[in-house]
Amino acid sequence: TRTPTPQDKFSFGLWTVGWTGTDPFGGPSRPALEPWEYAGRLAELGAWGITFHDNDVFPFDADAATKADRVGRLKAECDASGLVIEMVTTNTFSHPVFKDGGLTSNDRGVRRFGLRKVLDAVDVAAELGATTFVMWGGREGSEYDGSKDLYAAFERYKEGLDTVAGYIKDSGYDLRIALEPKPNEPRGDIFLPTVGHALALIAELDHGDVVGLNPETGHEQMANLNYTHQLAQALFSGKLFHIDLNGQRGLKYDQDLAFGHGDLTSAFFTVDLLENGFPGRPDAPRYTGPRHFDYKPSRTEHMDGVWESAKACMGTYLLLADKAKAFRADPRVTEAMEYAGVPSLAEPTLAAGESLADFRAADDGFDPEKAAERDFGFVRLNQLAIEHLVG
Ligand code: GCO
Ligand code: MN
Ligand code: MN
Ligand code: MN
Repeated sequence: TRTPTPQDKFSFGLWTVGWTGTDPFGGPSRPALEPWEYAGRLAELGAWGITFHDNDVFPFDADAATKADRVGRLKAECDASGLVIEMVTTNTFSHPVFKDGGLTSNDRGVRRFGLRKVLDAVDVAAELGATTFVMWGGREGSEYDGSKDLYAAFERYKEGLDTVAGYIKDSGYDLRIALEPKPNEPRGDIFLPTVGHALALIAELDHGDVVGLNPETGHEQMANLNYTHQLAQALFSGKLFHIDLNGQRGLKYDQDLAFGHGDLTSAFFTVDLLENGFPGRPDAPRYTGPRHFDYKPSRTEHMDGVWESAKACMGTYLLLADKAKAFRADPRVTEAMEYAGVPSLAEPTLAAGESLADFRAADDGFDPEKAAERDFGFVRLNQLAIEHLVG
C-alpha cells in the first residue's frame, strides 16, 4: 500500500475519528481527545485537510471568548502541521432544541435560532479559509406525515438556504454550500432524501448558483441507490462540490464503515470515476475537490483502532486508485469497452444539422431483429474489472 501524502487530498471530519462510540444502546467506548489532537495525528498519517461542525470545536453554549480561543488553537495546530481546513458545517441536530429540525422546525423561534447558528458557522468557515460549507439537514423531516405542512416545510427550507447563500454572496466569501442528502436516521423521513431531490430543490433557489451537493456513499446506498450514478448526475449538473466517502452494507442503519468496507465493487467504480473521469467523455466535468471521509471507527475499536481505521480509508482509496488506473490502461479493457459500445454512447443520436424531418424519413437500413442479437459483452468487461480489483 502506498503511503498517503497531502497531494492525495485526503480529509477527515473531526467527528469521524472523534466519535467516542456512543450509540442509542450504549455510552462511549473510548475517550475523547481535543480537536487539535485529532488534527495533529491525522496530519502525521498523511491527511491533507480536516473538516468540522461548530460544536466539534466549541460547546453549544460557549461564550465568544471560549469560541475564539478554541477555534484559534485548532487553527494554530493546522497551520503548524500543514493541514487545510477545507470545509466547515453546523451542528443543527444534537441539542434537543433541534428535535424537529433547524430550518424547518414547526417552531418559528427554533428556526430563527437555527438560522443564526448556521450564519455564525458561515463566518467561522470564511475566517478559517474553508471553501465548502456543508448543510446536512439530519433533523429536517418527520416521523408522522400529519405532523408538518409539507409545502410550508419546503418553503422554509428554501428560505433558509437562500438566506445563507445570499449572505455568503453579500459578504464576498469564497464559499459554496454543499447539501448532503440522506433518506432517514435520525428522522424517520428526512427532507432531501437523495441527490436527485436535492438537485430539484437547488433548481428552485434564488441563489442556487452557489449551492451544490455533498453526496455520501452510505446515504445513497441506504436509499438503495447507486452512489457512482449519483456522483455522475451531480457532475452532469455541475453540482458535485464535495464528497463524503464511507462504507455501507445494504439496507440498514447508517453504518459509516471505513471506505471500501461496504460494497467493494461499487467503491472501485466510484474511485475509477473520481480518478479517471468518464471513459467516453474525457472532456466532461471532473471532481477535483477533497477526498473527504465521513465514517465512524467501529465501537469495538479503542484508540489504536481509530488510527488504523483512518489509515484504512486512505489505504483502500489508494489501492483502488492504482487498480482503476491499471484497469483503464489494460488493452483488453480498451477492447472490451469498444466491443461493449462504451465510447459510442458519446456520439449524438442525431447527426450534426440533421433536421427532424430528414431524421424521421431517413433509411438507416436498421434491422431491429439483427440488432437484438447484439452481444454487448458487459459481463466480460466487468470480469476484467474484478480481475484488476482482486487479482
Ligand atoms: C450523518 C451525516 C453527518 C454529516 C455531517 C456534516 O449521517 O451523520 O453523514 O455526518 O456528514 O453532519 O454535515
Ligand atoms: Mn452516514
Ligand atoms: Mn454520518
Ligand atoms: Mn456525511
